[in-house]
Amino acid sequence: MKKISIHDLMKWKQEGKKFATVTAYDASFAQLFEQQEVPVLLVGDSLGMVLQGKSDTLPVTTEEIAYHTRCVRAGSPNSLLMADMPFMSYATPEQACENAGKLMQAGANMVKIEGDAWIAETIRILAERAVPVCAHLGLTPQSVNIFGGFRIQGRDEAKAEQMVKDALTLEAAGAQIILLECVPASLAERITKACTVPVIGIGAGNVTDGQILVMHDMFGISANYMPKFSKNFLAETGDMREAVTKYIQDVEQGVFPAAEHTFN
Ligand code: KIV
Repeated sequence: MKKISIHDLMKWKQEGKKFATVTAYDASFAQLFEQQEVPVLLVGDSLGMVLQGKSDTLPVTTEEIAYHTRCVRAGSPNSLLMADMPFMSYATPEQACENAGKLMQAGANMVKIEGDAWIAETIRILAERAVPVCAHLGLTPQSVNIFGGFRIQGRDEAKAEQMVKDALTLEAAGAQIILLECVPASLAERITKACTVPVIGIGAGNVTDGQILVMHDMFGISANYMPKFSKNFLAETGDMREAVTKYIQDVEQGVFPAAEHTFN
């Protein structure tokens, strides 16, 4: 696979070419994903749940994300690699700079931050200091205690309208990717059309520019449960490499996510 940059994603958005992305946490799977030509990988703080067996992502530390980022980069030199900034690691712009620096030095090309308009200033400061940012909106799992559970976001019109405004604010602040988690497909479509930068969805219907899945969900081996928006591609193909290829093809053709994986 050739080296992927944000320019490739921008070009694909302009051409209407959808792309698949997946989480990765170690060198072996990162290498498999690179061999199957997954262009974007995320070292997600979901590792707290799928690797560490915790009930949410809050205990994950920057050092843990940095360690897994080094592992993934070793296996996948050419993917565009995003690293999640854990809970409270970007509570102030100073903390954000210090911790984002550790993740970029571990091999990330971009960091991902959860939040709405309040993270705009942090995004601007990071972007000025050469740290590209993906802004994660919708169901932001680090806010599970505010939301009172892992719940779909943006269901009523006022909240949907606010999320469109927030996405545009974060793009204007310098966010180079917007990631939407668990929002109605109609809202994801509004945001995808409104934003110039690529929009990646999970539980956001098939209308976004890209899709992301937690790799354990894609292979149907998550310890906890299978979310409605996910699909076990290994069960369908019986082979890990074919499962990844099928996922990529289904995303590119707009076949995945289907209606049964979508919130309306
Ligand atoms: O941590 C993670 O894996 C994520 C994805 C679910 C988008 O944030």
